[in-house]
Amino acid sequence: MPCNFDNIIIKQFLNMEFYEVLEKRHTYRDFSDREVSDEILHRVIKAAFKAPTNDHLRQLEFVVVRGRENIGKVIAPLAKNVEKFKILVSEVDESGDEDKMAMFADALPKQQKMLMESGLLIIPFFRQLTWPLLKPAEQSSLNYFASAWCALENMLLAATAEGLGAVFHIPVADEAEKIKKLVNAPEGYEFICLLTIGYPAKDAFLPKQKAINVADRIHLNVW
Ligand SMILES: Cc1cc2nc3c(=O)[nH]c(=O)nc-3n(C[C@H](O)[C@H](O)[C@H](O)COP(=O)(O)O)c2cc1C
Repeated sequence: MPCNFDNIIIKQFLNMEFYEVLEKRHTYRDFSDREVSDEILHRVIKAAFKAPTNDHLRQLEFVVVRGRENIGKVIAPLAKNVEKFKILVSEVDESGDEDKMAMFADALPKQQKMLMESGLLIIPFFRQLTWPLLKPAEQSSLNYFASAWCALENMLLAATAEGLGAVFHIPVADEAEKIKKLVNAPEGYEFICLLTIGYPAKDAFLPKQKAINVADRIHLNVW
């Protein structure tokens, strides 16, 4: 008999309150090799299709790569771009903020390892129909991209509710084009990021999240 995933989702969410899920979501970059089951993976991907979508169509497709060796082949284009990634990161450094520096010090050397460690890589693709992604004419040209990010956040929260950690790498330089070719993606599709979910390692390092006083960020009537 087919498994009823809808019931399972409801049951899981009853186990963790929504705001608890929000609090527990962190970017994990250290994973154990414990396998994430197909059932859990299905629920996490299903969450993506619950996000709002600009054209009502939810044109998302997922390439799932299992096994460290297979993942290694798909993310091979990252290897020679580590320097580019570092430059990109230093260009946006505007504060010398200690928490931020601690995060980058941890994250930079882990960009490849973190994607392989859990043995499960997800590449979420979205239809980019109107404008080329990197040549938007106006803000609304980015609607497909924005919808895709809504879907990604749903996945991060679903993974958290499942007791999993998640992290993603944004492609830099020629990584996107090379990876699209490697996985045989059709024309007109872009991918959001390289996403991995998995069971956190026992000693997983969690960079300190910034403490924000929300009241300071709310401007009544005018800024
Ligand atoms: C648009 C965006 C791009 C990001 N790119 C990367 C990345 O390429 N590699 C990485 O390790 N983390 C990446 N992150 C994760 C951030 O470093 C992380 O969300 C941030 O440090 C806050 O930590 P938290 O997620 O634990 O709250 C990205 C996050 C966002 C929203």
